Amino acid sequence: MTDNDVPGGHSATVGLPGRERRSDGAARAVPRHVACVMDGNGRWAQRRSLPRTAGHRAAEATVIDIIEAARSAGVEWLSLYAFSTENWNRPGAEVDYLMRLVRRVVRKHAPLLLARGIRCRFTGAADPRIPHGLARDFDDLTMLTGDNRGMTLTVAFDHGGRRDIVEAARALILSGTPADEVNERLFAEYLPFPDTPDVDLVIRTSGEQRISNFMLWKVAYSEWVFPEVLWPDFRAADFLACLHTYQRRARRFGGLPSQTNGDSR
Ligand code: IPE
Ligand code: IPE
Ligand code: MG
Repeated sequence: MTDNDVPGGHSATVGLPGRERRSDGAARAVPRHVACVMDGNGRWAQRRSLPRTAGHRAAEATVIDIIEAARSAGVEWLSLYAFSTENWNRPGAEVDYLMRLVRRVVRKHAPLLLARGIRCRFTGAADPRIPHGLARDFDDLTMLTGDNRGMTLTVAFDHGGRRDIVEAARALILSGTPADEVNERLFAEYLPFPDTPDVDLVIRTSGEQRISNFMLWKVAYSEWVFPEVLWPDFRAADFLACLHTYQRRARRFGGLPSQTNGDSR
């Protein structure tokens, strides 16, 4: 099995080790920030000779399952990629369906998210084509859960990593900051939700292995896993298997594994 493989047979009940570091340098910790590229809804439906929209509808159960799995595993930040700036290129009927579906999901699950202590927020959502009612529901859920102190759930909707970077650059220029004062730390403050830590682990379902313009700045040093399972079939056990895969990785950030610190012969 390669490091990229996500084992299938993991039990969802296997407890995750705490935040200690292993002797081989692997960061044996629950990733603090996990982000999911929720991919494969269309193929899930096509394999069942159903319209693509049926795959989007089936994705709802996975979303709820994964939010709960992440929360109970001790993940502090969960980001879900729900709609990209490029997804506007899809047929109008599919886009309309997604807008209606997301609205229904947000309204339906608001009480559960509140009760679980999850703080919800949305990144993106800038395009005037987003229905007013949906934008209002995003604001309402953000307000409703704003005082929660459990996991922070960020839904990337109408999100584009490049757009975020361009808008940060524009805001920085408009602020009049002298060029020689611009550094990575300052630049990051102009990105949406600067309190959000870098992503530790990205899970992209359906076997596709690309970034697709997702949180470009914050995934600079993320670990990635690419389970073959399609998003509507992805469940808590699969999510925990991804966390275990992450725990076997040695994160180096350009340095050396921790056990060789001070001994770089
Ligand atoms: C992901 O599933 C959902 C969105 C992008 C909104 P897809 O709709 O991309 O499913 P595939 O990749 O066509 O199977
Ligand atoms: C990325 O998936 C966006 C979301 C999951 C919301 P896509 O299915 O749109 O990405 P590409 O087109 O395959 O790169
Ligand atoms: Mg896709």
